[in-house]
Amino acid sequence: MEISKCKSYRDLSNLVADVIEYILALPESKLVLPTGSTPTGLYKELVNRELDWSNVTTYNLDEYVDNTIQNQSYRYFMMENLFKHTNIDDDNIYFPGDTAVWPDMNYGVGVDLCLLGIGGNGHIAFNEPGSSFESETRMVDLTEETIKDNSRFFPTIDDVPTQAITMGLKPIMSSKRIIIMANGKHKKDILEQAMYGDITEDIPASILQTHTNMEAFYCD
Ligand code: GLP
Repeated sequence: MEISKCKSYRDLSNLVADVIEYILALPESKLVLPTGSTPTGLYKELVNRELDWSNVTTYNLDEYVDNTIQNQSYRYFMMENLFKHTNIDDDNIYFPGDTAVWPDMNYGVGVDLCLLGIGGNGHIAFNEPGSSFESETRMVDLTEETIKDNSRFFPTIDDVPTQAITMGLKPIMSSKRIIIMANGKHKKDILEQAMYGDITEDIPASILQTHTNMEAFYCD
């Protein structure tokens, strides 16, 4: 397992956009997508490429629970940064928690590509440290560190929801291919620990080492 170091954030975004372009060209495809600051350059690049999104179904990794700041919901983020600029069918856009059957153990299972960012404490989606490697899609409490990290997107820290619904580590690992992206020096150590260190539930992203088709992209 090697971390691919990209020359710039732009390069990282372009490289991952190339992979998504390939996936979108398949007759039918399924993608798991992240939010956060890391994928915004990628989403911008994808919009610029004016690709055909008519054959894809997307599953977002997570969504806040009881969020009162509507323009900070992950659905809003995805609509603004990506979906509303593409021809994706609204019926093919899924967020955890909005399925009729809940909890939905099939949510986002076995997709063609799962894209991930990494939290400062090694979380992926909202699987915080201590999450079981066998965890399913479920409701979780966010750690203080994550609430603090994500407060930059909210008017005050008190507005940050304390709970979320997240895809579990088990369905994430069922993806045919996984790409994890990290942007910035502050992510270097945790990405290296996750990719090269012990495989431990204390660093949820470390489970990715056991996936047979996984790539990590980093830029500082
Ligand atoms: C949130 C999301 C994660 C994301 C992480 C990192 O906690 N739930 O999916 O990977 O933030 O965000 P950023 O890319 O802004 O560093």
